[in-house]
Order: sequence, then C-alpha cells, then structure tokens
Amino acid sequence: MKSVINMNKNDIIKKRYNRVAKYYDLMEGLMESSGGKTWRKKLWSLVKGDTILEAGVGTGNNIEMYPDGKKIFAIDFASKMVEIAKEKAKKYGKDVDIRIMDIENLEFPDKTFDAIVTSCVFCSVPDPVKGLLELKRVLKDDGRLYMLEHVRSKKIIIGTLMDLLNPITVAAWGANINRDTVENLRKAGFNIFKEENLALDIMKLFIVGK
Ligand SMILES: C[S@@+](CC[C@H](N)C(=O)[O-])C[C@H]1O[C@@H](n2cnc3c(N)ncnc32)[C@H](O)[C@@H]1O
Repeated sequence: MKSVINMNKNDIIKKRYNRVAKYYDLMEGLMESSGGKTWRKKLWSLVKGDTILEAGVGTGNNIEMYPDGKKIFAIDFASKMVEIAKEKAKKYGKDVDIRIMDIENLEFPDKTFDAIVTSCVFCSVPDPVKGLLELKRVLKDDGRLYMLEHVRSKKIIIGTLMDLLNPITVAAWGANINRDTVENLRKAGFNIFKEENLALDIMKLFIVGK
C-alpha cells in the first residue's frame, strides 16, 4: 500500500472518496433536503442531446433523473462510489454504462457527447482546468456542459470563512469549498451561456459550451 507521501494528488482525492463512500449519501442528505434534489431536477430538465456523459457520478444521486431513451455514460475515479452508483442504476432501472475513469484523462474519442453533466464535482477534481479541458475535448462542437457546482463566495466575510475552512473539507473528504469555477471555465476556454445563482452566490447552475 502506497503512503500518502508517495501518492499523487489524484490518488489522494480518490482514496478520500473511497473512504467516505459508505457515508456519502448520509453526509449529502442535508444538501438533498435543503434544495439539492430540486436543483438536480432543474439541472436535468435543461439537458438536451442523445449522447450524454455524467462526469463524477459519485454514488449516483442523479441517476433517477436520467432521461429515458438516451445513450448515457457515467464515470468516476473512486471505485467504491461507483459500486453504489451501479446499485442505484439497477434500483431505478436506468440503462447507463458506468465506468471507472479519471476526468483528467478520459478514454473517449474527441467530440463524442452532445451533453456532459456534473454536480458538485469541480470542487474535487485535483487539476480542475485540466479536467475541464478534457470535458471540452470529448464534447461535440455544438454540445453543452451542464453544471451544478458550489464555488467560493465573492462576499468578503463568507469567502474568507470558506478559505479558512477549506483545508478541513479537503482533508475530510477531498472537496475544496473555495474553488473559483467561473475563472477555471474561462481558463479552459469555455463560453458561459448561463450562470444562475441557486443559493447565495455559492451554489450555481451553469450551461457552457465551446
Ligand atoms: C462531491 S462528489 C459528487 C458526486 C455526485 N456528482 C453528486 O452530485 O452527488 C465528487 C465526485 O467527483 C469524483 N471525482 C473527483 N475528481 C475526479 C476525477 N479527476 N475523475 C473522476 N472522478 C472524480 C469523486 O470521486 C466524487 O465521487
């Protein structure tokens, strides 16, 4: 077994999600009951296209919202999260090809997907710009990336508090609560077609494209 010192950033974050997989739905329950489910439904109601990728599927909390009759793939690099997602796909009778894969190094050809969906993923991807560039590569030219992501607040007190708490959330389960995802989308060369605040300026819904 590799010690943390010999692990790369991706292995460390993967290990943290594998560690919390069993408790993830319990931890996430608070977000689900305070708007999370409504936000997820809104996100999926906007998704268009026949070939869809969910990147960072986690334990599969979006699976029940997958549209029927589409070709859907879902990936995540944490195998223990994926095991739970596969159970949810069975439970909800959804036809989805779930694979273990790193967002920063996707095994799909260029321009494969009409739509890519993420929810609460870009807080955790170790190199977010690299991950976004990979999503851009596998997105068709007229495709769209739909995201439900929490970001660092621009409000001085809340933002500073998020900076202070960030090392704790990263150590506990691998999520950064102070990511500037808008800036990362720009760095990856995406055009932002929609940016909607769902809770303060922290929880946001994005629709972006090439
Ligand atoms: C906070 S969870 C969100 C899971 C799910 N999307 C949801 O809404 O409940 C973040 C997920 O992103 C995955 N993840 C982070 N970086 C990744 C990467 N580079 N490649 C694949 N999955 C990644 C983690 O393993 C974890 O399952």
